[in-house]
Amino acid sequence: MAHRSHRHHHSASGPGGPDMAALLDLDADVLHAHLSEVATWLADLTGGVPVRRILDLGCGTGAGTFTLLRRFEDAEAIAVDASPQLLHHLRGRARELGVADRVRTVEADLDAAWPALDDVDLVWASASLHHLADPDRALRGVFTALRPGGLLAVTELDGLPRFLPDELGLGRPGLEARCRATLAHRHAETLPQLGADWGPHLSRAGFTVETERPVTIALEPPLPESAGRYAQAVLRRMRAGLDGLMGTDDLSVLDLLIDNDGPESVLRRDDLTVRTERTVWLARRPPVAI
Ligand SMILES: C[S@@+](CC[C@H](N)C(=O)[O-])C[C@H]1O[C@@H](n2cnc3c(N)ncnc32)[C@H](O)[C@@H]1O
Repeated sequence: MAHRSHRHHHSASGPGGPDMAALLDLDADVLHAHLSEVATWLADLTGGVPVRRILDLGCGTGAGTFTLLRRFEDAEAIAVDASPQLLHHLRGRARELGVADRVRTVEADLDAAWPALDDVDLVWASASLHHLADPDRALRGVFTALRPGGLLAVTELDGLPRFLPDELGLGRPGLEARCRATLAHRHAETLPQLGADWGPHLSRAGFTVETERPVTIALEPPLPESAGRYAQAVLRRMRAGLDGLMGTDDLSVLDLLIDNDGPESVLRRDDLTVRTERTVWLARRPPVAI
């Protein structure tokens, strides 16, 4: 079953490393209200038909898996990811949350052999489609795995969230915007599907798109303590991709911000916000005509 992608490696800051696991957990923690809201939208679309089998595609550390298991109390979840480290982390979280008997993990590269899954009531794909080399093929796989009438939730984002005041920068405001613009150039090459319009892809795969909802998340101070750690994790990830691509002035400010110590550290600033734009598509495999 396991076909690990060559793109996955084992460094701390690599796609499946501990830094990534911590970042995904913090994302789930800080943005839990948004996740619960999407689960509620899905529940409203079930038409009272029980949800028993959930598939979380590119599940990471299980943000979607655990949100949906809370919402659909009779359901079991199959959590699929290419990263054995993230799946290991997810199983640990499942034990902590007391839902280990309701979760099965499947290690699979969704660009390679599609896992044998069927009769699924609900598929969740959050921030994962844009990682795939052939997302259309994956969507056809989702269509086949779903029972007729079953639901698919796709969430995608415009990029990493923003945290810093616009005026921040050494003699030049707009540090975070410059970091994001620099990374956007790289993402255009490495993740060309980031920010794509998934509605036409869903239709082509045979789905009926029930809703497409742009979501603006803007969390203002006072923020929970985890927001500072979330900002640090995201900005550290950005910093890892910026060496040689930005001026040393900007990078030195960024280094002060992501440091654990010092007055500038995002761990102890009171001027952080959390801003991110996401789009959620809710789609259905058409029911069988009677
Ligand atoms: C940005 S993370 C999102 C994780 C989770 N869905 C969430 O919302 O927190 C993208 C996930 O897709 C997984 N992924 C990337 N390429 C994949 C592939 N080819 N097959 C399976 N999973 C993949 C990564 O390992 C990672 O866990």
